[in-house]
Amino acid sequence: MTQVALVTGAAQGLGLSIAKKLLEAGYRVALTDVDEARAISAAKTLDESGEKVIGLGLDVQEKNEFRNALKVLVERWGACEVLVNNAALTPTTPLLEIEPDEFDQVMKVNLRGTFVGSQVFAEHFCERGYGRIINMASLAGQMGGTASGAHYASSKAGILTLTKIFAREFADKKITVNAVAPGPVDVPSIRDKVPADKLANIIDNMIPVKAMSSPDFIADMVVMLASPEATTVTGACWDANGGISMR
Ligand SMILES: NC(=O)c1ccc[n+]([C@@H]2O[C@H](COP(=O)([O-])OP(=O)(O)OC[C@H]3O[C@@H](n4cnc5c(N)ncnc54)[C@H](O)[C@@H]3O)[C@@H](O)[C@H]2O)c1
Repeated sequence: MTQVALVTGAAQGLGLSIAKKLLEAGYRVALTDVDEARAISAAKTLDESGEKVIGLGLDVQEKNEFRNALKVLVERWGACEVLVNNAALTPTTPLLEIEPDEFDQVMKVNLRGTFVGSQVFAEHFCERGYGRIINMASLAGQMGGTASGAHYASSKAGILTLTKIFAREFADKKITVNAVAPGPVDVPSIRDKVPADKLANIIDNMIPVKAMSSPDFIADMVVMLASPEATTVTGACWDANGGISMR
């Protein structure tokens, strides 16, 4: 039976790679983003016909928007089996310059967005007796980021905790909940944000394997965690940080 997956924040970067890899693995995919127009056009780049991929506007700050998206999927494809909480704000504001409102905003999108999305989909998964939730965490959430902002790193640490709580709660319901924690990933936005010489320095001097992860490889990790065969991995965090942190 064809399964259905929803990916948040998927109009670009890792989310788009995850949507593409899920499609290639045979899933019907809802490619969602706060920017509806970009979600729709990104969906069309993967599937012009719209039969296997749909683009939807979904602001993860709003629980109702998750409910509405789920309703669309149930009407269109009967159910949803996989939620990928990928959307995030990734500011790099220096510690003492982060205003309280900016802190709240990052927490609201990254941590609360993951929380409310997981609530809505866990309910659906419980009704159906099956489901997969994959949360995009980060090395910054494990180590306490330096280049990334304190709010970003804190939100990702919170996501790691939520991953375990949801995993434990639904472990006996054939619902698994896991996280993926990348170090630097070679998405276009990293090359836009970080000057080439600084990036080369990071790769050569801070990453033991001297390479960033490719988005497609991180997406493959997500697809593996999403698969029906991945029954015994839950509450886990899969690292892909080039050896920066070993535990
Ligand atoms: N790129 C990296 O090096 C890296 C490393 C570790 C973890 N991650 C994590 O991977 C995920 C994707 O990273 P990326 O580099 O592709 O990010 P990105 O900034 O390129 O893309 C994020 C997407 O989220 C969307 N978004 C922002 N606010 C939203 C909201 N309120 N509701 C819905 N969508 C919203 C944006 O429109 C954008 O399309 C994030 O969770 C990030 O923390 C990335």
